[in-house]
Amino acid sequence: MKTIIIKAKDHMLSAEELKQAAKALKNGGLVAFPTETVYGLGADALNPQASIKIYTAKGRPSDNPLIVHIADPSQMNVIARDIPDKAYELARVFWPGPLTIILNKKEIVPYETTGGLDTVAIRLPASRIAKDIILASGGYIAAPSANTSGRPSPTMAEHVVEDLFGKIDMIIDGGKSTLGLESTIIDLSTEVATILRPGSITKNMIENVIGKVFYDKAILTRHKEENVVAKAPGMKYRHYAPEGSLTIYEGSIDKVAAVINNKAKKYIEVGNRVGIIATEETKHLYECGIIKVIGSRNDEDSIAAGLYKVLRDFDDIHVEYIFSESFEGNGLGQAIMNRLLKAAGYNIVKVD
Ligand code: TXA
Ligand code: MG
Repeated sequence: MKTIIIKAKDHMLSAEELKQAAKALKNGGLVAFPTETVYGLGADALNPQASIKIYTAKGRPSDNPLIVHIADPSQMNVIARDIPDKAYELARVFWPGPLTIILNKKEIVPYETTGGLDTVAIRLPASRIAKDIILASGGYIAAPSANTSGRPSPTMAEHVVEDLFGKIDMIIDGGKSTLGLESTIIDLSTEVATILRPGSITKNMIENVIGKVFYDKAILTRHKEENVVAKAPGMKYRHYAPEGSLTIYEGSIDKVAAVINNKAKKYIEVGNRVGIIATEETKHLYECGIIKVIGSRNDEDSIAAGLYKVLRDFDDIHVEYIFSESFEGNGLGQAIMNRLLKAAGYNIVKVD
């Protein structure tokens, strides 16, 4: 299949470019576009055949539901029913933005889009291009992250090209995603409000608006042996996985660096390529291996924005082992650790 790449100027598409993207989507095609979290792979959410194409292009298990992206909060009522007040309150405060709300679905949403579930995940993204595309193409766009299933989510158009070129109709290049981690997902389809995936909008921020919410147990899991089944089907798969074997080291940073240096030296001696995930503040502590800076410890946003790119960069140079520092498990740090732990298959070692 021929994939057209369109480079957006000034974070906007021209009327002609928008028309082209909308035409592809209305015809049941696939268009990857930037959002503030990660790039999405869009299809008409109300067209079952279009949704099925997403699963094929990504190699995604068919029981893993898609998020429906809308452009105006009033559209919630068209695709969801029994909407609690809490949903409207969260929408008012956090939309447009990186929050996905799960509600009971109306019939208009095909099971192909919801992975067979009676609930639907809904998000109103902040990115101008995303909003324009959704509006121009009918208003309901299913969009998972635009990566091959199992690879780190794409934070640049180049990542989408790597994974999906030749498999989809169009890729809109809107530069780097500003946040770099997927949206927070909250389930409001049951009595108990539950966060299924942590993201930039934290538990505290949500509780300030609607009161007590809970974490799905799987989010708090630190070891795969705990064997907790995630409620968001997508969270149960080994996700965000780099090619190399990733180990996270947790403890005081000097000890972590000493252990990583020691391991790296041994692995390199016997001919392995080793990558190290460090930060601006700690990069000077490492003595060998390919050291990549993920961001600054004084700026969690930079770490969130840098994580997936570093994992992909290590894939590109085919490192066999990756050693990473660990990050604080609060607020945004919790979302960062959640993704890093999943990338590592929960392979985390305490060094103190
Ligand atoms: O930031 C984001 O949310 C990005 C951008 C493109 O908007 N999208 C994204 O989609 O991350 P995806 O498909 O990669 O992740 C969606 C997650 C999956 O873990 C899926 O299982 C879960 O949301 N999900 C979707 N619908 C659900 C539902 N009805 N019930 C439970 N989990 C659901
Ligand atoms: Mg994804």
